[in-house]
Amino acid sequence: MTIQLAILASGRGSNLQAILQAIGNRDLDAKVQVVISNVPGTRALAIAKSHQVTAVEILHRGLSHHEHEILVMRELRNYCIDYVVLAGYMRILTSQFLKSYPNVINIHPSLLPAFPGANAYEDAFNADVITSGITVHFVDEQVDHGPILAQEEFPRLPDDTIEAFKSRGLAVEHRLYPRVLQSLAKKGPVKL
Ligand code: GRF
Repeated sequence: MTIQLAILASGRGSNLQAILQAIGNRDLDAKVQVVISNVPGTRALAIAKSHQVTAVEILHRGLSHHEHEILVMRELRNYCIDYVVLAGYMRILTSQFLKSYPNVINIHPSLLPAFPGANAYEDAFNADVITSGITVHFVDEQVDHGPILAQEEFPRLPDDTIEAFKSRGLAVEHRLYPRVLQSLAKKGPVKL
């Protein structure tokens, strides 16, 4: 069954692109109802528009965290959504949001609980890990925390640069996120 997604993104949008490509290739039975960004003119918004997906800017500048989140929730009410998917969304969701939208999914570039936070690739790389990985998880009130849906490892090679390490991880992200969403699609809609 087709699941309905809202995607929140703050930047580059490569995971959004991977999800939209998987939908286009029929590897993912989902429809993206809306992409919302808190940052003006991001690549994520351009990617959404290029796929004929509604793209909405809800800027956080000048607003309290609470005020901004209320506006995002108000926009989401316009759609019938099964899952809210975070794809590089650099805002922390509060309990008021998670009460209204409990099915929020995030992708994080480390093997959680190791290396939470905004610089996970750098933190794992600088810690000289032998293996790192990607985590897709449900979001709870703690940052980069919540029930884990899937994890996939990738190696840090001895002569790696941070750029090579990141691009190896990003390739995993782009495979893993659509795959996890498809496993949820197989279970069918849940409608928030
Ligand atoms: C990804 O590394 C993701 O794991 C993290 O933020 C980054 C977003 O990248 N949460 P993009 O905007 O999807 O290219």
